[in-house]
Amino acid sequence: MKSLTADQLREMYLKFFESKGHAIIPGASVIPENDPTVLFTTAGMHPLVPYLMGQMPHPAGTRLTDVQKCVRTGDIDAVGDAAHLTFFEMLGNWSLNDYFKKEAISWSFEFLTQHLGFSPEQLSVTVFAGEDGIPADDEAAAIWRGLGIPDERIYRLPREDNWWGPAGTTGPCGPDTEMFIDTGKPKCSDACRPGCHCGKFIEIWNDVFMQYNKNAEGKYEPLGRHNVDTGMGVERTICMMSGAPTVYDTEIFAPIMGAIKELGADEAELGISADEVLKARRIVADHMRTATFILCDPKGGVKPGNVGANYVLRRLIRRAVRYGRQLGIAPGFTPKLAEVISSKYAHVYPELAENLAQCKADLEAEENRFTQTLDKGEAMFNKVAEQLKAHGQSQISGKTAFKLYDTFGFPFEMTLEMADKAGLAVDKEGFEEANRKHQELSRTTSAGSFKAGLQDNSEVVTRMHTATHLLHAALHKVLGPTANQKGSNITPERLRFDFTWPEKMTDEQIKEVERLVNGWIAQGIDVTKKMTTVEEAKAEGAMALFGSKYGDQVSLYTIGDVSKEICSGPHVANTRELGSFKIQKEQSSSAGVRRIKAVIGNM
Ligand code: SER
Repeated sequence: MKSLTADQLREMYLKFFESKGHAIIPGASVIPENDPTVLFTTAGMHPLVPYLMGQMPHPAGTRLTDVQKCVRTGDIDAVGDAAHLTFFEMLGNWSLNDYFKKEAISWSFEFLTQHLGFSPEQLSVTVFAGEDGIPADDEAAAIWRGLGIPDERIYRLPREDNWWGPAGTTGPCGPDTEMFIDTGKPKCSDACRPGCHCGKFIEIWNDVFMQYNKNAEGKYEPLGRHNVDTGMGVERTICMMSGAPTVYDTEIFAPIMGAIKELGADEAELGISADEVLKARRIVADHMRTATFILCDPKGGVKPGNVGANYVLRRLIRRAVRYGRQLGIAPGFTPKLAEVISSKYAHVYPELAENLAQCKADLEAEENRFTQTLDKGEAMFNKVAEQLKAHGQSQISGKTAFKLYDTFGFPFEMTLEMADKAGLAVDKEGFEEANRKHQELSRTTSAGSFKAGLQDNSEVVTRMHTATHLLHAALHKVLGPTANQKGSNITPERLRFDFTWPEKMTDEQIKEVERLVNGWIAQGIDVTKKMTTVEEAKAEGAMALFGSKYGDQVSLYTIGDVSKEICSGPHVANTRELGSFKIQKEQSSSAGVRRIKAVIGNM
């Protein structure tokens, strides 16, 4: 096996596909150009959607190859393990209604085995097993078999594993075939196979066969074109080629991991385990790399803040600061790490040099703000701890922990960490209880007003309908466009809203959603209704509930520039009629689906 650098791999890949008739095109900005449906570019297909749809020919032809910077923060909590990253580079080759499965798979195999030097025995692949009336991809399986991959290493998996796209809510998509390298580690169980997250099989490449279009009703219709979209992860491929145990042990991360180690305090003095030290370093490295690419992006416009992409960036920087602190790194470190990252990448991505000064200034400001919050919180914590000890007590009450969090903005995890070091316990249940009580306060108020008979139930339900649209819009702003409605149910007491989202929402996200909705209520925005067709509504950017059947004419409700949804209503005339909005509960509904229960207050 050869050991390549990322620079060499990028070049080899582009040259290889150039030799197969592909035009090398530049990758796109990591901040989407014209796509309001995503916060960041998560895959190479975003900028190519119009060409994949066949809306216009691509000026460079029907075979393209590129390197795309991608940001994906859905798995942010998994960062720190061997292979998860919030930023990565993806190598891609594209057929715009040109070649299809046979060429795509054969070239993938040729590049992996003859150019990168993987042995066919290390390869396992997956193909689409068939679902929802779309047949199993026997053709892809047969091509792999023809190349010498035996049946026992061709796994057939459902849509959840072997389907890609659309990039937003609608658009081109299709079954894929994914290539995994067997690391040689033992299986974690009998069921262990590619797609299992134990780290035995690492996915490095994905060939997508885009033959379908997901329409506004959530149906998969034939696209009438056969496109190919492939994506090879640079970091993971380099990791597998060099035999490094994790992506953080590759040449790509060497300078930044080295700098983090150097800036940190002596490991023995940190009071955390070696595993925790390692995880904290990886989180700092990953998050700082992502934040630096976002801040230096040529399109620009994303700054640490409380909404949408700005919030994601803030969360990345603050998590890096928190873990940096855990490593004993002195404040002011984020601009230093941005410099290290810039030196590593600027020859490939010149924006990392051109926009470095502004990036460092933004990092410094955000790090300062958050450091002050943490300093105040720590001082308060120390006071509390001293008082407790003076009274011979060993537990921080839930109420006190909640006060640190609610009044001083001190993250609850920090209270737990500091308590642990100070030899104090924390009443976690008490904290949750205090949090819940706080959230319920306004529920009591609103329930009281209903009892007083200020309005009849149908009026309340109408107001809840409109609140549901505002909630949906706020979730899109805070979590992004993948937080899509799965269901909704309204009673005079509360609204319930189910939506796709992989993890528990943080308290900050919940607060931000409430703040947005209450802001729109306070603005007194008019709600308007018009009759139109699904196509027209869609063209205007309306949200529609997938899987619903709509008639020829639908009513489209528009709330200023906040929300546009196809809905049968009824709705209030102005958002001011909602009074106020409060989330009572955020919980799991089913796998990948969260449920919010919320109430509205008095008018
Ligand atoms: N879009 C596919 C992926 O991200 C292949 O490029 O995996």
